[in-house]
Parts: sequence; C-alpha cells; structure tokens
Amino acid sequence: MVGQEYILIDKSVIAEGCAYDFSIFCANKSKSKVECIKRKGLIVQSDDIIVFDKRNDLYVSKSEHFAYKNFYKSHLYKNVRELNKRKNHSVERDNTPLTFTQKVEVMYQNASKALNELFNNPETLNNYNESKSIVNELVDSVLDSDFAIESLMCIATHDYYTHTHSINVAIYALSLGTFLGYSEEELRELGEAALLHDLGKSKISSAIINKDGPLTKDEFEIMQRHPVSGVSIGLQLGIKNKKILDGIKYHHEKIDGSGYPDGLYKNDIPMYAQIICLCDIFDALTSHRSYKKAMTSFEALKLMKVEMNKHIDVKLLNKMILMFR
Ligand SMILES: [Fe+2]
Repeated sequence: MVGQEYILIDKSVIAEGCAYDFSIFCANKSKSKVECIKRKGLIVQSDDIIVFDKRNDLYVSKSEHFAYKNFYKSHLYKNVRELNKRKNHSVERDNTPLTFTQKVEVMYQNASKALNELFNNPETLNNYNESKSIVNELVDSVLDSDFAIESLMCIATHDYYTHTHSINVAIYALSLGTFLGYSEEELRELGEAALLHDLGKSKISSAIINKDGPLTKDEFEIMQRHPVSGVSIGLQLGIKNKKILDGIKYHHEKIDGSGYPDGLYKNDIPMYAQIICLCDIFDALTSHRSYKKAMTSFEALKLMKVEMNKHIDVKLLNKMILMFR
C-alpha cells in the first residue's frame, strides 16, 4: 500500500517555520494505512517536529513527489552553497551559478539519498527509476569532460556504506568504461549494473552486512546469495537487459573458477561483471571500516596486482592502473 501510493522522504530536510508544496504523511506499523500529518502549504510548527521525530518514516503522495524532489534539490544546492561559503569565507549570492565541482557534490548527495531509499525499499519502481536517473546524470557527466571523471572520483566518500559503496563502484566502473572506449549505450548499461550490483544485500539482515570481522560459514552462505537475489529484484523491477542482469549476477566470479554463484572461468565471466568486480574490490580496499583503515589507491592497486592475480584479469587491472595514472 505505502510503497505503491506513497514515497519515503528524508525527514531531516523538514524544518520548523517552513511550509511545503507537498503534504506529509506517516504510516502505521504494518504500513497498510497512511495518514496525513501536515497538509501542503501549512507552516511546520515545533509540535510537528516532535511528532515527525517519533515516526520512523515520513512520506509524500506519488502525485506530489515531483514537488518534493524540486524542494529536495534546492535544499541540497543551498547546503552546498553554505558549505562553500564557510570553506572559502566568501560572500556568495544565492543566484551565483554553481561551479562544476559543486554540481558534482550535489549529484553525489542526491545519488546517496536515492540509493539509501532504494536499499530500504528495493522493489519500489519509483526508487529504481530514481536510480536510473542517477546513472543518466553520472554518464552525462563522464561524457562531458575528463574533468568530470576526476571530480567524480575525488568526491567518492571513503566511509563504507552499502549505498555509497554502490555509487562509488558506479563512478569507478564508468570511469574505466570511458577509458576502455565504451559507447554511451554501453556506459548506461554498465553504470546501471554497477549501481545495482549489491541490491540483493537489501534482503540480508543488517547484523550480517555490518558485522565487524569475518563471517561464519552459515553467514557467508547467506551472503553468497546476494548476486542471485539482486537479479530477482532486478527482474521484478522490469530489468530485461541480460548484460545488466549478468553484471549483477556475476560480480563475485573469479577467473580461476573459485567465485560464486556459478564458478565461471576467465572469459566466461561477462565483461561488465569483471569491471564491477575490480571496482568493487578497489572501493572496499580504499574505504574505511570500523575494523580496518582505508588503503591509498596505490596500496590497493598494488595489493590487487600482487595478491589477487589468480582471481582477476590482470590485463583489465593494468587498464585500471593506467587510468589512475
Ligand atoms: Fe557484492
């Protein structure tokens, strides 16, 4: 009911003293019923904020999602401007056009928010559509200029969360795809597969996903199901492109046949899956986790070349190393 008619919103952006072009709803525990808790156009009072804080999720109706998205984008733009003003101690007017880097920052924040929603509600078509628009924005940016790729790679956050990891992997995969001379259509396919590669993890308990340290045999078996569950969710969302589905399904295969789910060898592993696999490993190594420090790009690439050469295609890795140079 909620997933079909109402869309989850980021409640941290709702502020006291403001009125919005959309009504705000909340749902009961089973999410079978919703009620309007703030009508469109009415000013949010301090009592409303107390009510909002007690609710886990706030929603807008599908018909007003566009109004919410417009508000959300302008909120992000404002935040980036404020951040920039503080960084540079500059007096910047609100109508000053955003620099390219600022736009990339907004795009990353937008993508991070959308991916978080997608992982919370993976079967929601609207969230999937949102992720497609992120891929389009990313592809448009990488096709724009080399500077875009550099900005995107610099902006990738190094604190590990499943949703930001997915964005980082998409950014690295698109960068490598561009470096390999992929067409625009191929980049859109690769970007989508990379962004959604871990979607199946949304079906695994957070206790396993966020576990500090090695998984038990049983936990690892559960974890190994995520590429196939990712494909099931993809099919439910209407993804028909086999190259995208294969990119999701085979991103944990290794060229010596020791990977999963099918133990494919070398060239039997589809190219998108091989690219996503490399970028997945690279981002995991260069991200900070509670139990390990982040490696530098150089350290990560060196480790991949020396210790993982039986698992990954060294020729492809060499291309990645050249790209980073
Ligand atoms: Fe994965």
